[in-house]
Amino acid sequence: MVKSKLEQLPIAELRVLLRSWYQQAGRDLPWRQTFDPYAIWVSEIMLQQTQVKTVIPYYYRWLAKFPSIASLAAAPQQEVLKVWQGLGYYARARNLHRTAQWIVSQSDGQFPQQLEQLLTLPGIGRTTAGGILSAAFNQPTPILDGNVKRILVRLMAILVPPKQAIPQLWQVSVTLLDPEYPREFNQALMDLGATICTPKQPNCDRCPWITCCQANHLHLQTTLPMTEPRVPLPHKQIGVAVIWNDQGQILIDKRPEEGLLGGLWEFPGGKVEAQESIPECIQREIQEELGISIDVGNHLITVNHAYTHFKVTLTVHHCRYLQGEPQAIECDEIRWITLDELDQYPFPKANQDIIAALRSSPPALNLD
Ligand code: ADE
Repeated sequence: MVKSKLEQLPIAELRVLLRSWYQQAGRDLPWRQTFDPYAIWVSEIMLQQTQVKTVIPYYYRWLAKFPSIASLAAAPQQEVLKVWQGLGYYARARNLHRTAQWIVSQSDGQFPQQLEQLLTLPGIGRTTAGGILSAAFNQPTPILDGNVKRILVRLMAILVPPKQAIPQLWQVSVTLLDPEYPREFNQALMDLGATICTPKQPNCDRCPWITCCQANHLHLQTTLPMTEPRVPLPHKQIGVAVIWNDQGQILIDKRPEEGLLGGLWEFPGGKVEAQESIPECIQREIQEELGISIDVGNHLITVNHAYTHFKVTLTVHHCRYLQGEPQAIECDEIRWITLDELDQYPFPKANQDIIAALRSSPPALNLD
């Protein structure tokens, strides 16, 4: 009978090769110095969409501020979002917070250890659950993040885009996982993807798996993984207002809990409609969102930002408050605050550039 590709893999050899490579070339990362499931959970959530070097300072700051599940559960959401500020994908912070509260109230303060239970928690999919359980409890739970997909696609010379081979890739990850050393194996796989089996110019000459790698045999290591044709992201034009009152305060609003950037503060504004100028858009949006009239003054800054599924251009103007009592019509809350108080509120990244521009550009010079 013909052996399948999976059956042809020298599994025992691959495990030994990876392990000895990891022991001499693995990275010394902060979350590898602990078995605390809480700290490991935090690291895995931060690492979901963010690079290791960006995560490290956030990881230390988070654990200094919230050293335990109980301390996180007891914190106000605004404090949690403030510590997360700048990491992006804020649902991750809200989910950590919510789950910490669930663990305290429903799980006796104990981090769940069953894969099925972990998979029911918000923000935890199969690879994150696998990463946590293997690292914290040495459970033989496989992982399949972007780096691991790339390694396995090359190892097996899978000639379709990874998205079209997910069940097969999971099967490879399950089969390869070393049942004696699952914690080490998964961490090693992540390091292999990050330092050797890199997307553009893999360092095959230093790879412990070079002799077994099908892509290498076929000289396909830079061709694989195959990519899907990219669809261009939609681009939204947003008019944004920095509204000043006579006391020198600025009006900010808190975004609704649900949806993108939920619970974060922002400068109010909205989408530019067809045939509308930016000042017209700002005036209309502020009337609709907050029920007040304003004068739109000088341009302050234009900020471009790319989210996962779309791009935005924020065109920001200084504005003067004229009349009406501000109401939280399309947001959760509004506040008049001073420039000095801005730091107390969590703002999305694109809004940080507005704050920086405000600080280096005195408003008196910009208002009509
Ligand atoms: N990406 C996701 N989990 C990781 C980990 N534990 N170490 C390094 N990179 C990671």
